[in-house]
Amino acid sequence: MSDECYGHPRLAAVYDPLDPDRGDLGAYLGMAEEFGARRVLDIGCGTGVFALLLADRGIEVVGVDPAGASLDVARGKPGGARVRWIEGDATALPPLRVDLVTMTANVAQAVVGPGVWHGTLRGARTALRPGGRLVFETRDPARRAWEGWTREESYTRADVPGVGTVESRHRVTAVDGPLVTFRTVYVFAADGAVLTSDSTLRFRGREEVEADLAGHGFAVDEVRDAPDRPGRELVFVARRPDV
Ligand SMILES: C[S@@+](CC[C@H](N)C(=O)[O-])C[C@H]1O[C@@H](n2cnc3c(N)ncnc32)[C@H](O)[C@@H]1O
Repeated sequence: MSDECYGHPRLAAVYDPLDPDRGDLGAYLGMAEEFGARRVLDIGCGTGVFALLLADRGIEVVGVDPAGASLDVARGKPGGARVRWIEGDATALPPLRVDLVTMTANVAQAVVGPGVWHGTLRGARTALRPGGRLVFETRDPARRAWEGWTREESYTRADVPGVGTVESRHRVTAVDGPLVTFRTVYVFAADGAVLTSDSTLRFRGREEVEADLAGHGFAVDEVRDAPDRPGRELVFVARRPDV
């Protein structure tokens, strides 16, 4: 297999157990509160962890993701029926008028091609009400995070109810300018299955992202730090101007 892991049913089912610490989402919950968001669009919602946290707080949420298998996991979770799930990306959304658009867990880096990246920013702006905000993070390229993505450092193991023990490891296979490709290998102890997934991320610097946001009519109010990963992430707070 050589596609993204999120669209593979067996891998989508173990995504949450292999990444159980979602302390990263606290900052986004805080921003939803800070900006008084009542309606949120979560782009790249994956298995719906953040969308469901918002829905639990009475917020109206639309979650969009191209990975149907991840959306199936999201739909099956408690409260899944309270979120409107859309399979696709932000380049083809139905009419929306949200207060806040989010892209958590470095979704922006998974939007690799320039066409889909610009389409995503355009789609986010169109979905926002005037004055609404787009917030997302991207790893600071200056920190060269990929240099730590070794088999040893990335080893993860989870005992998943109904699935058994799953181990995963990844390693970087190519660095080509801003594009970093890595391979993740998953081993399922129950039947010995070994699944491999290749992913590419794009690293964009602060100036590039600020210019792209401005090009799509956003005002960049702030670039924050991620409190749980100090000095490693650039968290953009962009606003659709009132007029
Ligand atoms: C690291 S996961 C993050 C999932 C989720 N935001 C979270 O916090 O758990 C990245 C997600 O981005 C999605 N993705 C990839 N390309 C995308 C695109 N062009 N538009 C929206 N989502 C995309 C993937 O399918 C995957 O679910």
